[in-house]
Amino acid sequence: MSSARPVIDLRSDTVTRPTAAMRRAMAEAEVGDDVLDGDPTVRRLEARVAALLGKEAGLFFPSGTMANQAALWVHTTPGTEVLLDAGSHIINWEMAGAAALAGVQVRPVLAGDGRAVASARDLERAIRPRSPHAPLASLVCVENTHNGAGGVVLPLEALEAVRAVADAARLPVHMDGARLWNAHVATGTRLADFARAADTVMLSFSKGLGCPVGAILVGSAETVQRAHMVRKRLGGGMRQSGILAAAALHALDHHMARLAEDHAKARRIAGMVAGAAGARVVAPDTNIVMVDLPDRVASDAVVTAAGEQGVRVTPWSASRIRAVTHLDVEEADVERAGEVVRHAIERARAD
Ligand SMILES: Cc1ncc(COP(=O)(O)O)c(C=O)c1O
Repeated sequence: MSSARPVIDLRSDTVTRPTAAMRRAMAEAEVGDDVLDGDPTVRRLEARVAALLGKEAGLFFPSGTMANQAALWVHTTPGTEVLLDAGSHIINWEMAGAAALAGVQVRPVLAGDGRAVASARDLERAIRPRSPHAPLASLVCVENTHNGAGGVVLPLEALEAVRAVADAARLPVHMDGARLWNAHVATGTRLADFARAADTVMLSFSKGLGCPVGAILVGSAETVQRAHMVRKRLGGGMRQSGILAAAALHALDHHMARLAEDHAKARRIAGMVAGAAGARVVAPDTNIVMVDLPDRVASDAVVTAAGEQGVRVTPWSASRIRAVTHLDVEEADVERAGEVVRHAIERARAD
């Protein structure tokens, strides 16, 4: 590497390390055996997030993937279909768990690109009348913010329109809200208002909130009770998990409002990279910057060139790179990251 300066890691908001204060909160956590008879700190976290989201109950999970999969399992029966969008995390990054675990077919019927992430009309058109020849739909899933579209916020009106169509068809709605915290901070919309558009919501602690591990599923008491059985079946029971829940409680107190700083940093990086040799940037709503590279510029070449200058970004596709801001991105990193990525694109274009 040509520079002795520390690496700026923008591959994901999952790369953050727990702060000293978070580590202290973890060390001091009151714990119990959460598989045997309960962990008091986990109980506190579950009750607090359920209340924040306006739901009856919450269940702490080791990962967002497991919580999403548990939601699919409790809402559906094998051989039915789940309606969602082609760019969703559930379709693209969960190892076909919907098919392998819940035994359902995923059917991408919502638009998954740019601003049109959730289109109620797409959904309405896709719901088939009951027939002995076509699979029955059992669930609608939405993702907010939408990772693949570039951290796009699904506004409340779009979600409510999806919800209305789902209600008319008597379908439950699950929201993959891994980054719903970001949507809340970016728009000022209350978490509970977003959550009203869904029966269950999954939220991650290990992304923008900066925790080492953890996610939560919230919903009705009955749904969460069933999800508890699925979590056990998947091997997701955790013993003295209050240590992890303490990190999440600390993050709710100290790391939520500061997500606005991540969003501002993403906008600044986007502004510096936009137009580099003809690159197009999806204007970030939140903390994810997607850059569509100019013709004949391969994402791998840009990622390698930026990496050589100490800035790590992800090749999202052959022609798109992703940079994500987070808790460990310092103020001074923003300028350098923007410059390095810009030069990497220009260099790759010239080569
Ligand atoms: C939108 C979305 N949903 C779900 C997940 C899964 O979370 P985890 O990595 O905790 O399994 C991610 C992780 O990146 C995500 O971006």
